[in-house]
Amino acid sequence: IETTLGKGPLTGKHILVTSGPTHEPIDPVRYIANRSSGAQGTAIARALLDLGASVTFVTGPADTPPPKEAQVIRVQTAQQMYDATLNGLPADAAIFAAAVADWRVTDVSDNKIKKDGSGALPVLNFAENPDILAEVSKLTKNRPRLVIGFAAETDNVLENATAKRHRKGCDWIIANDIRPDTGIMGGAENDVTLITDQGPEDWPRMDKTAVARQLADRIAQVLNA
Ligand code: CTP
Ligand code: CA
Repeated sequence: IETTLGKGPLTGKHILVTSGPTHEPIDPVRYIANRSSGAQGTAIARALLDLGASVTFVTGPADTPPPKEAQVIRVQTAQQMYDATLNGLPADAAIFAAAVADWRVTDVSDNKIKKDGSGALPVLNFAENPDILAEVSKLTKNRPRLVIGFAAETDNVLENATAKRHRKGCDWIIANDIRPDTGIMGGAENDVTLITDQGPEDWPRMDKTAVARQLADRIAQVLNA
């Protein structure tokens, strides 16, 4: 069997990928989560490995199993994902495919919250989580050459994604329409627009693995330029 023996356009490059949802605890048995399957992040890590990169894969509790050849770092919360990401640098490129919870519960209960029989409702207080993509984008030391974010939107996809790219200071943003009727969240396909400093580039709807391969090729072009 012919193998490439680890020689590819990304050989010698280290790339960090965040993937999956985060889980934000409420009490020992309950948490807040989202519908991210980790499929797109896992496919990206796979495509980068196939081009010879060494990959640090920081993942929340996802349905899709991570690629074995990656350095896999499993986390639960956004704060843990943030710490693991900073620990995973330096990297030549970083891709933020995780669906990070925007808020965490501030007063996580040590004990299961119980109904007291009176019908009184629990009150949850929230704090905003660190924005991992924005923080990495503004690093002065250790900033990856290429910082790539996703913008999962249900409305005004291009406008919101373009604004997000500027607000967060990342190099590229991959916009996708995640309205439930698109079948993208949890599905096999994705329909993305790559936004760079050259503006938006609409890619045809294709398998998440094909999106990943095309993205990995583009990353290789930039890192080898
Ligand atoms: N992201 C992150 N850390 C967060 C929130 C988001 O790293 N705390 C990253 C995501 O991985 C993604 C990008 O930022 O690459 C955009 O995430 P998104 O949820 O679309 O953006 P937000 O700024 O959180 O805006 P909103 O959810 O209000 O649309
Ligand atoms: Ca968000």
